[in-house]
Amino acid sequence: MNQAPINVPPAWHRIGKHEMAPEASHDEIARFNFLSNLNKHLATVISPGNRVAYDKRVRPRFIREKGRDFQNRREVREAMLKDPHFQTWSALRRSAMEMRQQAGRSLVLRQAKELAQKAARLNEGKDTLQLNPNLVIPPYIAKVDNHLMPGSYHTELFEGDVSAAANYDMGLFVTTGGALGRFNDGGGKAISQWLLSHHPEFKPKRILDIGCGLGHNVLPIAQAYPDAEVIAIDVGAPMLRYGHARAQAMGVTNVKFIQMDGQFTGFPDESFDWIQTTMFLHETSGKSIYAIMKEIYRMLKPGGVTMHIEQPQYTPEMDLYEQFIRDWDAFYNNEPFWSKMHDIDVVELMMQAGFKAEHVFQTGVRAVNDNEDHTKPRTPEPEDHGRAAVWNVFGAWKK
Ligand SMILES: C[S@@+](CC[C@H](N)C(=O)[O-])C[C@H]1O[C@@H](n2cnc3c(N)ncnc32)[C@H](O)[C@@H]1O
Repeated sequence: MNQAPINVPPAWHRIGKHEMAPEASHDEIARFNFLSNLNKHLATVISPGNRVAYDKRVRPRFIREKGRDFQNRREVREAMLKDPHFQTWSALRRSAMEMRQQAGRSLVLRQAKELAQKAARLNEGKDTLQLNPNLVIPPYIAKVDNHLMPGSYHTELFEGDVSAAANYDMGLFVTTGGALGRFNDGGGKAISQWLLSHHPEFKPKRILDIGCGLGHNVLPIAQAYPDAEVIAIDVGAPMLRYGHARAQAMGVTNVKFIQMDGQFTGFPDESFDWIQTTMFLHETSGKSIYAIMKEIYRMLKPGGVTMHIEQPQYTPEMDLYEQFIRDWDAFYNNEPFWSKMHDIDVVELMMQAGFKAEHVFQTGVRAVNDNEDHTKPRTPEPEDHGRAAVWNVFGAWKK
């Protein structure tokens, strides 16, 4: 008998472990595995029902009552909010996000001191970690618990704390169902493979990654270009402390982690060949995204490239239901800039920074996932909107 393969996310033991990773007990692992499966179930079994509710109930009713179709995603949202299937899925998804934070936080907080000591040991005496305790945290980070993460990326519970980063590192496989690979680095692998194969002649000597977080996606870039000097910046000290220690533990030593604001870095003009951001711009703000892009243009050498990995933009061609469901994170997952960022005309954004329209490009990349068995055909599955490991990349060459 031909049975459809059971599509479950990889279990905890499949996650890549490194020396900085927190210890997890049997019950903690069971909780993570449950949450990862819950997320996958919500995405693949329950969420497609939202589309059915829209097509069969919500849209026909709207057309009947108003005598016209939806004109924008706000109207779709208002109508879908009254639908019981959407209400149930949305409440469950929100609970799954809250439980994921609780699971990650309780895991790391009970061993916060040990994790800080481990990081301090791995970081000791290295000039590749530079922190700035006087850095002003941008208000859009300081005032928001981004994606329900208490204290966001920057909060330190004590001197040398890394718990925000350890929580982020361990929980990412829950929200993505392991789709980013064993070390959550599928985006960085995909973009460096894309650049190597599409522009083999391009040999960047200095690379900058802005909003590097704990470095998930900058390490594969540094590995793909081992002779390059790679600088990774972020405003959050816990991310950089943990990220630097993790990189050392993983044997990637050509990355410098520096605490800096991407809006005003102080790097000289025309000092980088490649400036990268990965899942970063949607977490900035309406003003800072323009400031960051101008700073990128200033820092980029002529002949250099900048690329930005994000979920797809809401273009006028995108179906209104698709825009609405992709917008969930803006309303229920503390992503205040999500909607606005995905509405931006990226060509306009790049042009305002100084790039020429004809040098702006867009492409798509899919995460390189070493959790998948590449000897078997990929099982088609419904997309988890806003979480998919398939991204839009926009960028520009400076010429
Ligand atoms: C979603 S995380 C990015 C993850 C990372 N790029 C990766 O690929 O794993 C966003 C990061 O951007 C940082 N960030 C936000 N605003 C920033 C700014 N103005 N300058 C530098 N980093 C910033 C946050 O502290 C956070 O670590």
